[in-house]
Amino acid sequence: MRKKVLVTGGCGFIGANFVRIALQSRPEWEIVNLDKLTYAGNLANLKDIQDKPNYHFIHGDICDQELVQKLFRDHAINTVVHFAAESHVDRSITGPEAFIQTNIQGTFVLLETARKEWLENTNGISEHRFLHVSTDEVYGSLGETGYFREDTCYDPRSPYSASKASSDHIVRAYHHTYGLPTLLTNCSNNYGPYQFPEKLIPLIMNNALTGKPLPVYGDGKNVRDWLYVQDHCEAILEVIERGTLGESYNIGGHNEKQNIEIVRLLCDMLDEKVGPCHTGKPRRDLITFVTDRKGHDRRYAIDAGKIEAQLGWTPKFTFEQGIDKTVDWYLENREWLEGVMDGSYQQYYQTMYGNR
Ligand code: NAD
Ligand code: DAU
Repeated sequence: MRKKVLVTGGCGFIGANFVRIALQSRPEWEIVNLDKLTYAGNLANLKDIQDKPNYHFIHGDICDQELVQKLFRDHAINTVVHFAAESHVDRSITGPEAFIQTNIQGTFVLLETARKEWLENTNGISEHRFLHVSTDEVYGSLGETGYFREDTCYDPRSPYSASKASSDHIVRAYHHTYGLPTLLTNCSNNYGPYQFPEKLIPLIMNNALTGKPLPVYGDGKNVRDWLYVQDHCEAILEVIERGTLGESYNIGGHNEKQNIEIVRLLCDMLDEKVGPCHTGKPRRDLITFVTDRKGHDRRYAIDAGKIEAQLGWTPKFTFEQGIDKTVDWYLENREWLEGVMDGSYQQYYQTMYGNR
């Protein structure tokens, strides 16, 4: 059966990387990308593939039940890869409502449409798949030791992680109650090309390139487990094609780093690659410790043993390789970064498709 894939949030960071990788490695797939183009959605992220005959962009909201149903019918969707979300923890602290709406209600609309279209109207759905892309933040915060496993109890602590945990539970309920063919992935912090410069690595890149202060929350010793985005996308492809229905898979790269280590490393890499900043001083001088994030989770670390044992997935990139590729990408794509920073990226839609 030819895969007709609804990708939600395909103009965001991970979604855009996924669409590009999927079209390269699975050229027989048809991909429909439904994206609302919030501040985080950028059509230019997929500029190079926008004219492919097996790729279609649809501007719209996953909460719009009529639109979602129409897409399922018009494109005979048999696979959903659901990325669309409000994804930034700091924004969820200052404005949680959009997180509840998109992350919980939006996921519900997609599940309910899949249930109606696949389970009520269609025979023979054995190859249909609904994959929900989630986060390790649903497990809460770790102490100095230990890892998140698939059977770790959920303990979300920010409005963002609570909204993702809610949607995970609804996904599981749709499998258990209705037999919807769902899959769930919980991944650690991603980094790589096209990440919006509100997240730590691209924010530090942007500020360090433009000589602005580099804000480090609290004591800078919070730990995140970093994974290069291509590795995450390839893990998702494995789970769609070979994952066991109803199960979840943790995805991570065993790359635990304190935030301050990352910031110092980026300073040193930039000093080496492009020379010191305009003051002539090393970029480490720009590091500024600022008030901590409210409720800041201390440490995340993933045990990815299940996906490795069951599906044979392991990351291809070491942290050193991934961060080098990432820094080079931002240096070679200064126009992309500047377009996002000055807001002109939002005009790309008009150039492509006329008035909204
Ligand atoms: P992102 O913020 O870069 O992109 C989100 C995309 O979703 C944007 O294109 C946005 O326009 C779109 N969107 C938002 N609301 C929408 C709506 N109502 N309808 C349609 N489209 C909408 O996010 P990201 O970092 O690429 O994350 C993608 C997914 O992966 C999210 O579900 C996130 O929770 C999950 N995740 C992210 C990470 C990470 O490190 N970034 C790690 C694990 C899991
Ligand atoms: O763990 C997976 C999650 O990783 C995803 O589910 C989220 O969508 C994604 O945004 C990310 O969440 P984090 O909160 O870990 O990512 P962020 O880049 O915002 O922050 C990483 C760490 O750096 C965190 O400890 C906070 C800190 N930080 C962040 C920013 C933006 C700073 O010290 N300074 C900053 O300016």
